[in-house]
Formats: sequence, structure tokens, C-alpha cells
Amino acid sequence: MKRKQSSITAQGIATIRAIESSKRPEQRICYDPLARQLVNPIIYLLVKLFAGYGERRAPGTMDFLIARTRYIDDYLQASLDGGIAQLVILGAGLDSRAYRFELLIGHVNIFEMDHPATQRAKCSKLSRIFGELPQHVSFVPIDFNAETLEKLYKFGYDPQQKTLFIWEGVTYYLTAEAVNETLEFVVRNSATGSTIIFDYVYASALTAAHKRGEITRMQRYRRFTGEGLTFGIEEGKAGEFLSQRGYNQVENMTHEDLKRTYFTGSNRNRAIAPIYTIVHATV
Ligand SMILES: C[S@@+](CC[C@H](N)C(=O)[O-])C[C@H]1O[C@@H](n2cnc3c(N)ncnc32)[C@H](O)[C@@H]1O
Repeated sequence: MKRKQSSITAQGIATIRAIESSKRPEQRICYDPLARQLVNPIIYLLVKLFAGYGERRAPGTMDFLIARTRYIDDYLQASLDGGIAQLVILGAGLDSRAYRFELLIGHVNIFEMDHPATQRAKCSKLSRIFGELPQHVSFVPIDFNAETLEKLYKFGYDPQQKTLFIWEGVTYYLTAEAVNETLEFVVRNSATGSTIIFDYVYASALTAAHKRGEITRMQRYRRFTGEGLTFGIEEGKAGEFLSQRGYNQVENMTHEDLKRTYFTGSNRNRAIAPIYTIVHATV
């Protein structure tokens, strides 16, 4: 990422959530009522205007992003029911879970980790929305490609507590070393029963032979955005990848699983891009 530029992809993804959330309850897959307030209004208008074109160039990508948020929301709810004491949101961007899941507030220690420029922009937006920066969240600035999660300790992170780590839409932009270090930190520094949930692209989709519209575009504009795609896991290999790194109970949620679970009724004809998967695993 560029040192002084906040994440453009974070804006784009939150805009897609905002558009989905404006639909009627029976039509929407995810619901993030804060997204509209968090995003830059110009980016909102641009994404809305070009949504049809984007869908033609990269069929099913927007619906993967929407289903991803829904699935992680459901996973967070189940984790809350299961009694987590800490939540760490890695590469938080404009993630609004810390402010829209009421059960979190006052019960769970929340840490949002993000690139400093993205985090600064979010904090000033939050201060404007709520009148002050919410006190129940610790904001931990980090460059995953240059630092480790050790920084969490300075903000009161407790390795004895059962913790959920959410890593939504981030592994794509990191080096393999940064992904390994993050996974290693979680295994070594969280209580038994802690979990991590993240999504990834199939490594083969990053090679020239398989490129889809959104991948080609992100690589072409990487010098402008500072967010090029660098990391992927081979299809069908996430179980092995995570068990080699000390995790168990690895569960994948493929595009087919997402489609079966969420895209029913009037949403049954919506397509989900076949190159992304969500995975969760237990320490
Ligand atoms: C696609 S956005 C996803 C944001 C959020 N998790 C969501 O799903 O809405 C990618 C996020 O990763 C963060 N990010 C990318 N590279 C990073 C790095 N090297 N260090 C820290 N954060 C990084 C960006 O700042 C941004 O918030």
C-alpha cells in the first residue's frame, strides 16, 4: 500500500455493501446500515453508476463480496454465542461490525488493525458519525508487510482469552511471508478454541492464463492504487495449508456453498465468482 493513501479497495467494498443494504429486506443478502455513511459519496456514486459494467467485466465478484460479508457476520454471531472475549479485525477498512453488533459493545474487547492511512481516514469518519471516536474499540495501526501482530500487546490484547480474528478481503494484497507471520502469531498467541476467518483467491487465478476482468484491472492500476494482488492459495489446498501451520477444524466455504446457503428465492439467479473462497480454522 502507498504510505499516505488510504485504501481505495476498502471504499469500493463498503460501497458495494451500502448498495446491497439499500435493497428491500427480502432482496438483500447482507445488511450493513452504516456502510453508506462511512463511504466517500463520490466513490459511492461512481460505483453505483458503473455497477452494471463492473458485473459484465467481472461476473459474480460483487455478489461474492456481499456473500462474504454475510457469511462472516453469521460466523461472528455464532462466535459471540460461543463466548469469545476478544475480536481482532485485521485490515479493518470500513468494516462496521464493531458498531453494528450491539452484543459486542461492553462484552468483547475489540481491536481494529489497519494500515495507518486507511485507519486515520476511518477514525475521522467515525468521529463525525458518532460525535467522537468510539471508546470501545482499540485502533492499532500496522503495515502487515513490515510489522507483526505483536503490536496488539501494547493495546491490551490478552493471549489467554478466546478470540476471533476476522481477516476479510486482505490476504490478496500481502506477501506470502506476511500471511505466514500473521497465521503464526494467531496460533502462538491466542487461547485454545480461538478462530480465524479469512478469504482468499485461487493462486491459479493470478496467473496470466486464467485472468478475469477484475484481476487484470487491479494489476493494471496497482501503481495508482498501491493495492496489487500478490497472494493466493491453490484451489482445494487451504486445509493442508492451514494444518501445516498448526490449525485444525478447517472449513471452506466455496462459491457453490455460498450460493446454496444464501442465494435463494428472488436471488437464485445471481452469480458468484468461482475463484474466491472463505475459510475458517481453529487454534
Ligand atoms: C479490500 S480492503 C478490505 C477492508 C475490510 N476488511 C472490508 O472487508 O471491508 C483491504 C484492507 O486491507 C488493508 N491492507 C492492505 N494491505 C495492507 C498492509 N500491508 N498492512 C495493513 N493493512 C493493509 C487496507 O488498508 C484495507 O483496509
